Amino acid sequence: MQVIIRDTMPQASVWAARYIVEKINAKAAVSDKPFVIGLCTGSTPIETYAELIRLYKAGKVSFKNVVSFNMDEYVGLPVEHPESYHSFMHHYLFDHIDQPAENIHILDGNAPDLDAECAAYEKAIEAAGGFDLFLGGVGEDGHIAFNEPFSSLQSRTRVITLTRETREINSRFFDGDPEKVPAQALSVGVATVMGAKEVVVLAFGSKKARAIKDAVEGPISHYCTLSALQNHPAGIIVCDEPAVGELKVNSYRYFKATE
Ligand code: GLP
Repeated sequence: MQVIIRDTMPQASVWAARYIVEKINAKAAVSDKPFVIGLCTGSTPIETYAELIRLYKAGKVSFKNVVSFNMDEYVGLPVEHPESYHSFMHHYLFDHIDQPAENIHILDGNAPDLDAECAAYEKAIEAAGGFDLFLGGVGEDGHIAFNEPFSSLQSRTRVITLTRETREINSRFFDGDPEKVPAQALSVGVATVMGAKEVVVLAFGSKKARAIKDAVEGPISHYCTLSALQNHPAGIIVCDEPAVGELKVNSYRYFKATE
């Protein structure tokens, strides 16, 4: 695992966006096959998406041959709800780039058969050739996508019941009322994310410091599902300074020196 540390969130976001663009362009140079990317929502990736849009507008990258799968979506929230992850992705990324609509995949939290929806999503990822890169965030309790503590590290896309803590944290987008946050979500599993050739996780702010400490220095454990990244051959966590505030001095120095 590599930990990239930048002083500030905007600097770390620029690093992540440029890394993704390099990967898209590197594949396009040698293959006609699409670049398959996993995408996340939340406040964390907003600046990374803004930099991807800037790079697209500057002619540095095209998303015409990019296929994306988002990692999660609330159950029962109308697609047009401003806090649905459908709305989020269009607002912060898809409306501003040239990615064809048919290449965009987001789980349908209103599907009549949620289990069938999840199974079909896994099949579609496989049919697309699997992920070249998965971009993720992390919850304060170390969850990746919506894989709450004690999710199996072998889990695949499925229906998840959100913890009270996650609903309270996400209530900032729902008038501060945890009851308005849907109780369930659809989410790719830990194994779905770890199946990507590369995994890039963003973590910003001191609120994420405990999760980063657990994921980087703790044991691989379902208690902190991001810790599964320790077993991944190409895992990168991109942080600002506050997010690495709880790492041991030696760990911090190691990652700074080896970058
Ligand atoms: C939610 C999402 C995660 C996201 C996390 C962190 O729980 N399901 O994918 O990583 O929130 O959100 P934020 O980036 O707003 O801190």
